[in-house]
Order: sequence, then structure tokens, then C-alpha cells
Amino acid sequence: MRDDDNFSNNPTKSPRFSEVAKRALSRRDFIRTSSAVVAGSSLARFWGGSIGAQTEESLIGFTSLTPQDAAGDWMTVAKEYQAEILIPWGTALDGSDRPWEWPPTGSAQAQQVGVGHDGMWFFPLREKAEEMEEEEVVAESAPSDDEPEMMEDEEEIVRGVLCLNHEFGRNESVFGKSTPESLDEVRASQHAHGVSVLDFEKVDSKWKFTGGCHTRRIHVNTPVEFSGPAADSIFIVRADGSPLTGTLNNCGSGRTPWGTYLTCEENFQGYFGSTEGAGLSITRGRQRYGFSSNGFGYGWHLHDHRFELSGDFAEFEELRYGWVVEIDPFDVSKPPVKHTALGRFKHESCEVVVGADNRIVAYMGDDQTDEYIYKFIGNEDYKEVLARGESPFEFGDLYVARFDDDFTGRWIRVSNRNRTIARNLGSMDRVMIYTRLAADILNPTPMDRPEWISAAPNGDVYCALTNNYGRDRANAANPQAPNEFGHIIRWHDDEDPTSLTFTWDIFVLGTSSFRTEGAFGSPDTVWVDPDGRLFICTDGAQPFGLKNQVVVADTNTGELKRLFVGVPGSEVTGATVSPDRKTLFVNIQHPGNGNLDLSDFPRLEEDPSVPRDATVAISRIDGGIVGS
Ligand code: FEO
Ligand code: CA
Ligand code: CA
Ligand code: CA
Repeated sequence: MRDDDNFSNNPTKSPRFSEVAKRALSRRDFIRTSSAVVAGSSLARFWGGSIGAQTEESLIGFTSLTPQDAAGDWMTVAKEYQAEILIPWGTALDGSDRPWEWPPTGSAQAQQVGVGHDGMWFFPLREKAEEMEEEEVVAESAPSDDEPEMMEDEEEIVRGVLCLNHEFGRNESVFGKSTPESLDEVRASQHAHGVSVLDFEKVDSKWKFTGGCHTRRIHVNTPVEFSGPAADSIFIVRADGSPLTGTLNNCGSGRTPWGTYLTCEENFQGYFGSTEGAGLSITRGRQRYGFSSNGFGYGWHLHDHRFELSGDFAEFEELRYGWVVEIDPFDVSKPPVKHTALGRFKHESCEVVVGADNRIVAYMGDDQTDEYIYKFIGNEDYKEVLARGESPFEFGDLYVARFDDDFTGRWIRVSNRNRTIARNLGSMDRVMIYTRLAADILNPTPMDRPEWISAAPNGDVYCALTNNYGRDRANAANPQAPNEFGHIIRWHDDEDPTSLTFTWDIFVLGTSSFRTEGAFGSPDTVWVDPDGRLFICTDGAQPFGLKNQVVVADTNTGELKRLFVGVPGSEVTGATVSPDRKTLFVNIQHPGNGNLDLSDFPRLEEDPSVPRDATVAISRIDGGIVGS
């Protein structure tokens, strides 16, 4: 797919820190490359001693794959591990093994797992001991970061719900043509995008999709609701009051402390187009989000007027995307809710933690060259808000990050309480709808494509900055120019997650250095486990001719090892674990880039018309904690 994320739509590009570059380079002795992570004593002073204690014993005991191990055209996993393919695109939602027919019709695709597997989260279900009826199964909220993930003596959890994003699928893959010739072909594409909610059971110690009462598809024709400052805006509600529908380009994910799923809309602009071609009016708001008359070439607007940017049909549909969307995995009757207080941008993931006074904090990256890192801070005890029947995402403020060259930083409020923002944008609905325009006024730091963010239990927060080929000048927070292999930045909010100041460092640089162990490029998904293992999934250029991969870092020591390597033409994305942390689920997205000659993944017995995205369950052969 065209990767417009690699082009900047940010004309402001706050100060480029020419002095900072020099200072950053003078700190290169602190910043080693991905064959040797920044860690330990030299940076601990920036951390107030909060970096995990140095331990003698490595958290990652497995044998790292070498580039030679992973040179073939199939996926490879470390020798202590096994990998199993699950829920390929086209899996029937009823849990049957009905053969897949390609290309799917629009209605068939709505009853199947979608394409473009991306962010996900596994939500455990705990059985009541005496009752095994489905109605009696209770949802187990995901553990919060300050609670142990699982007690040793707890009963084994054998059921769960996997929420899975379907980010994108090329028209040629989905219905075999570059441009749709009918509404049904558009529907097939639309229904291949979105989210799958899938019941899983553990059978013979392996997780299987079973179908079940929570299983459903959510896509661009599913009814949705809005919350927050823009929920009642004239730009969001329809003039005729008709219901709002849809989510699309669902990229990264998150989960709330109250046990719901967050799906994040990334490159929404690519699904809109205009029959006016070059005559299309590109307003400042459209320019700042990268709209064009052809979008990514999906051609939905040719048969579905909702996605037409011109004329009578324009009616603000484009403003209804670019949000973080909350889904209750266990309540089929609740519509997804788009939380406008979290801002409208190209959301990658949403990492929610609990700060002082039970106020929530949500960290988010805007994935495009020269865009920003944000966080939402709740202003009330989230449990009290929930008890009132309201959403904790309705009560709080959005902030944007500035990374200063002295390795401190600030979170700056994005609000019309700032006079310049008020003068430019007016009311808070417009501030949230045009988050990028509001943030520009505050001089935040333009970053090298912020992807996923994950917070460790000790309060260190990791963000993948995937690459920036166009960077001409380095600065402290983005120290490579051009930045071919990306890096991972780490910050620690000063007092607790609700603080407005922080300290930061570069955790690791992607690299082409001569050391091969754990070397990687283009970090995308990051997830840190409760012990401090950082799982890094990649999407883009890799050193040593490697395919996209999963690398595990020990955040205490900086050690890196290569756990898994995918298939040609794919990215690896969306790490989540089973409740006992014995299974790691990752996704193989766009195997072969849709070309069967490049990859025949997943090699099922059915007719392989096209390669198919699928989830891979990775587990230790000896049943140990994954990553160990
Ligand atoms: Fe959807 Fe930034 O990857
Ligand atoms: Ca992607
Ligand atoms: Ca991604
Ligand atoms: Ca990416």
C-alpha cells in the first residue's frame, strides 16, 4: 500500500534544534545502537533511579535467531519455541471450517474475519466454578499495571475474547481489481476493514477460535456513537439526525483499566476521494490531514457517496474518522464509542494507565513524518465516573509533547484556553476535530513517525519512532538524519503519569551496524510485559536482509534477542498475550504484499488464490513465560 505516512503534512515543523543536533551527537556515547541498548548507570540520573534494578539474570533466556536461520521464505521462531497459524482472513465467524471462497461478496465478507490483521488485545473470561452456562461467564478486566498479571494459585483461564483490528487490504487482494466496479465490491472492501471480536477457547493447551456469543464484526457500516467535546458538534452529527456509522483503518490498539478494547483509526484520509479530480477544494484542514482527490485509490466514493469529498455529499463524513474508538468485548448490544477528547489524528495505538487519584492517562502517537506524541489526562477518579454511568474519556484534557534538548520535556495542553488556539479554531469541538492545527500552535516536537506506545510497570514509557527518510537535521529526540531504521524513545513522567513534566532518553536506535544479535529496523508495535521485557515488532527496512521480525529487549540490561521472523513481503504487528503469558499472539500483515509469487502464507489446504493475513500464536515448547 502507498505509505503516505512517510511524507510530511506538517508545514510548521517547529524549530529544528540546530544546536540540539550537536549536543545529541556529543551524547552518542550514551546512545548505543540496537546491538547495544542505552541502559544502566550513565542514564540512570535522568531517571530519578526509576529504571529497573540491574539484575544478574537475563529476562530473555532463549537462543536468538540469526539472519541465516531466518533466510528462507517461511516464518521462523527461536528453537525453544513453536508457532501456530490462527484465524486467517476469511475464517467463518460461526466457527465452522467452511471453505473460503475468493473473492468474497460484500455480505460474505461481513461474516468472516477481515484482512490486514493489526492491533489486538486478548480479554480473559473467568468461568464461575458451579455454572458453566455462557450467560454465567464473567468478564475479567485486564489487569492494571499495578496489579500482578496472574496469581500462581489462580484457576486456569480457558476462555477469552480476542479483539483484532483489520487495518487495510488492497483492492487487488480483496476483490481482484484495482478499482471497484460495483457497490458490492466496495462493500467487500469495507467489510474486510474494521474489527473482529472473536471467542477463543483453550483446547489441549492451545488457544482456538470457536465462534460464540461475543463473536461479531464491526466495520464502516456498523452504528457508532460519539463522546466528548465534539460529540454534539454540527460537524459530527448529521443535519437530518440520521444515525452515525463506521470505523476504518483500524491500526494499533489498547485496553482500558475497566476491561474494554480501544481501536485506533490511522490513515482514514486514504478512503475518501473526489470525482472532481484536481478541482477538489483542499482546505487547510484537509491539507493538514493529507486528503486528496484519489486518496489511496480505494475508489469507495465511486459507488458510496459517503466517501465523496465534493459537492452535495461532502457533509463532513471525513471528520467522523481519525478517532480512538472504545468497544466492549463482552457486550454485543453496546455500540462502539468514538472518544473525541482524545483528538483527531492518525492514531497508532492508545496506552491507558492509572495515575494519581485514580485519574487515567492515555498515551498516543500520531503516525506520520513530523507529527507529535500526545497524552490525555483524566481529571476525575475513573471509578467514580464509571459508577455514574459516564466515560472517563469525557472528563479531562489533551496534551502534546515537547522533548527538550536537555533530556527533559513538557506536556502542553491542547485547548482553546490558549488564546491563539481560541482565535484560530474557536470552540473545543473544532479544536478536537483539527487537533493537528491546534497542536501546531504550541511548538511541540515533530517526531520521526510515532507508532505504538507501551508503559512499563515502573512508569517508563516506550514509543516506537519507525523511520524518517526525509530528516535532514538531527535533534536530540530524533538523532539520526536521515533516519532509515528508526528508534525507540523512552520517557518517565516526573511524579506519576498525570505529571506535566518528564525526563527522557533514547532507549535504542535501529541499526545497520555489524552486530547482528537482535538488530532491527522500523520498530512499530511495542509492548512491555510486567517483568520488563519489551517486545518490538517491525514494519519496514531491516538490516542484514532480514524480513520483518519480533525482537525482545530486556529493559533492565539492554540485551536484545530475535524471537520470530515473518514471511516475505509482510510486516509483523499487534503483540498481545494470553492471561498466563504462555502464548504471544502476533499478526502477519500483508504477506507477500498480496503477491502469491512472493509468499503463499498461510499455506492452507484450500485453493491459495491470494496470500492471507493471519495471527500466529507463539509459545515456549516447555510451557514457560513467552519471551523468557
Ligand atoms: Fe498502521 Fe502506523 O501503522
Ligand atoms: Ca501497517
Ligand atoms: Ca503499525
Ligand atoms: Ca508502520
